[in-house]
Amino acid sequence: MTETVELQFDTEIRTASDPDSIRQAKNLLSKGQLVAIPTETVYGLAANAFSAEAVAKIFDVKGRPANNPLIVHAFSAEMARDCVSTWTREANILAEKFWPGPLSMVLPKSEKISNIVTAGGHTVAVRCPSHSIMKDILRQCGFPLAAPSANLSNRVSPTKAEYVADQLSGRIPLILDGGACQIGIESTVIDLTGETPTILRLGMIRKEQLQEVLGEVQLAFEKGVNEKLKSPGQLRCHYSPRAKVILGEGSWDNLVNKLDKNMHVIACESVPNDRDPATWHEMPNSAQGYAKQIYETLNRCDQANAESILIQPLPLGSEWDAVRDRLSRASMN
Ligand code: TXA
Ligand code: MG
Repeated sequence: MTETVELQFDTEIRTASDPDSIRQAKNLLSKGQLVAIPTETVYGLAANAFSAEAVAKIFDVKGRPANNPLIVHAFSAEMARDCVSTWTREANILAEKFWPGPLSMVLPKSEKISNIVTAGGHTVAVRCPSHSIMKDILRQCGFPLAAPSANLSNRVSPTKAEYVADQLSGRIPLILDGGACQIGIESTVIDLTGETPTILRLGMIRKEQLQEVLGEVQLAFEKGVNEKLKSPGQLRCHYSPRAKVILGEGSWDNLVNKLDKNMHVIACESVPNDRDPATWHEMPNSAQGYAKQIYETLNRCDQANAESILIQPLPLGSEWDAVRDRLSRASMN
């Protein structure tokens, strides 16, 4: 599907610290064009959320199915409230505690948000990002920005400008380079439209943190297999590198001893003496450090034309749940 998109732009990659590049981004967005912008989670592919025509370009450029709704980014809770028809008590509590930051809240949509943003649904996901560049652009634009991750559909989300360029060069006029994203995986998505707040996608804001301020919170995917899929982000093969991802099971030493030489490895251990360091990717021991690097590492495996990637089992503990979730999805394609 995406191959048919015309490569009509000579894509510029500009340092986001240059105020002129922020102005250029604002001008393009105001004219209904798309711009890739860094956020604290991953790079987003932004369009004016109030313009159906601009938002339609996002779906074309990414090759994204029209039934997968977009997250709308706002400068402030006030701007977010303009995108929803009901601002609930829970929304208020969460906004005060976690915004700006990596939390998206699903609420009933306002009339200002067109159906294309919400994939025809009556709800919209809103988030106030904390990244200074994204905030600056939102402030200058004065309108909210619909922005999915700036990758082609079903590919790994980009955490650096160069990974956006690999996937979207020629398809969009401008990529703002703000360096590596601080968090590295996508925001937690929580649905506040049902009786019980329900996590649709795990992120670095954990279930326990949400429970602390809301009381009962459930995970959508714990409710049973017959539950209607409410967030297509939960589709199994959503976050995949081209290489086959294998989650290590059983004795790690045995797996490493039997490794095919061409297989890449992602592990918290340092490279054994007999392994090629180019195919061994050592990761930080903390969940935060690991999350920050995991998509870049998967991207590097793809760039090295890895056929398969073996992942060392992750430590137990809920701080690893979001990373565990992304890796298990990546392994299912
Ligand atoms: O961290 C992030 O959330 C990044 C940055 C750029 O903000 N954005 C991002 O967007 O990950 P995207 O489009 O790649 O993922 C949005 C997820 C999808 O799983 C989508 O199905 C879900 O949010 N979503 C969006 N609107 C929804 C809605 N109204 N109801 C249920 N799920 C929704
Ligand atoms: Mg995405």
